[in-house]
Amino acid sequence: MPRRAAQAFTAVLLAASTVTALSHTAAAADSLGSAAAGKGRYFGTAVAANHLGESAYAGTLDREFNQVTPENEMKWDATEGSRNTFTFGNADQIVSHAQSQNMKVRGHTLVWHSQLPSWVSGLGATDLRSAMNNHITQVMQHYKGKIYAWDVVNEAYQDGSSGALRSSPFADKLGSGFIEEAFRTARSVDPNAKLCYNDYNTDGVNAKSNAVYAMVKDFKSRGVPIDCVGFQSHFNSASPVPSDYQANLQRFADLGVDVQITELDIEGSGTAQANNYSNVVKACLAVTRCTGLTVWGVTDKYSWRSSGTPLLFDSNYGKKPAYDAALAALGGSSTGGGDGGNPGGGNPGGNATCTVSFARTSDWNDGYNGEVTVKAGSAPINGWTVTLTFAPPQKVASLWNGTPSWDSSGNVMTVRAASYNGSLAAGASTSFGFTAAKNGNNSTPTLGACTAS
Ligand code: G3I
Repeated sequence: MPRRAAQAFTAVLLAASTVTALSHTAAAADSLGSAAAGKGRYFGTAVAANHLGESAYAGTLDREFNQVTPENEMKWDATEGSRNTFTFGNADQIVSHAQSQNMKVRGHTLVWHSQLPSWVSGLGATDLRSAMNNHITQVMQHYKGKIYAWDVVNEAYQDGSSGALRSSPFADKLGSGFIEEAFRTARSVDPNAKLCYNDYNTDGVNAKSNAVYAMVKDFKSRGVPIDCVGFQSHFNSASPVPSDYQANLQRFADLGVDVQITELDIEGSGTAQANNYSNVVKACLAVTRCTGLTVWGVTDKYSWRSSGTPLLFDSNYGKKPAYDAALAALGGSSTGGGDGGNPGGGNPGGNATCTVSFARTSDWNDGYNGEVTVKAGSAPINGWTVTLTFAPPQKVASLWNGTPSWDSSGNVMTVRAASYNGSLAAGASTSFGFTAAKNGNNSTPTLGACTAS
């Protein structure tokens, strides 16, 4: 190519790549599912069939997620409550919804000691083996071709240091071989579904995850069909995100299986929760064989741990700081849409902090007033959130200088700044107050930590 033509060609290429880069930036994904898809992953949620009729629930689900896991509807008690009589109505509703939205479905779960009908526990070994294989066969057959991955066996190992199988009708009567048998049966029914082992407290390197690791290694060496390992990732202050989370995912991936984060929820709020979510998402992205993440519910309102507000959307479907952090970690950016949890729009990764104190300012027979003072740390803040837990049957009758919301028990009150007192200079303070009805209980509410944005 003559030099001038070559220069012109290079200029065109540069211009083209600039345009590509710009348009890529302009089109930054604005939902969890689309941002995850941009990274070759899915981002899903557990779904309960009985909430699909709620428009805010279904709307948030359809807008944000591209994978679903039925929260309870595919479990043994839901699908085969009586022997050999199968009921799929609720699970079918979720699968049809997912298909209409092009969402992947994770099947959860075929063999688990919990939510197991009592007729199963009463069987002798021979009968139990055939009931287990029949259950796997009938359920997988019904959904053949519609399931991305099945949790074939769930939570088979004990917590703690033993590394042993937990006691269950399956382990007790069939011995450890039940896991292998379940996987072999599953492969024979739907060879196109990925077959996973799924567990909790296996998220870091520990005795329990070592036991699962040894099992997967053994299965791979003997050709027992297993394609993936699910890490439930239910985190709270007693069970925080382990520092070796990514390393643990990676060591399983290195055995030649996919890894998936299957039931993610992280109790907390504000910046701390946001940072934890960000770290979990980044860990998955850093492991090539981590194929996707599933949070264990759409909204705090319906979480199995509702009072711990562990999810990405608050009870009003507002995006929490954790949502923004998860989306940012996926390379997307939020376009708003009800950010109930980040009133000041502050950077959840910043150094905004606050402290909080409580005073009971007046008392009478059946009520009292409380005052909560919020003080910014060494940096200015744009918003704050404080949680108070009341002893039932106490009830808050009124509240001023803050915006309250409640968990499903009605006992945990989360208060965010009002529109006029969220922004505080470094070291500055503000307060909100409330009147509570004692209803016969004179306790003082428990004050949670302050989170700032
Ligand atoms: O639907 C009935 C309702 O009719 C009844 O009035 C009510 C009374 O208790 O119970 C309702 O069923 C509850 C069901 O959730 C639906 O809300 C069950 O009692 C309750 O036990 C069940 O809890 C589920 C739990 O598994 C059971 O072990 C949670 O929703 C579900 O999130 C949870 O999910 C598990 C995963 O499958 C495995 N890993 C741990 C994870 C969290 O525990």
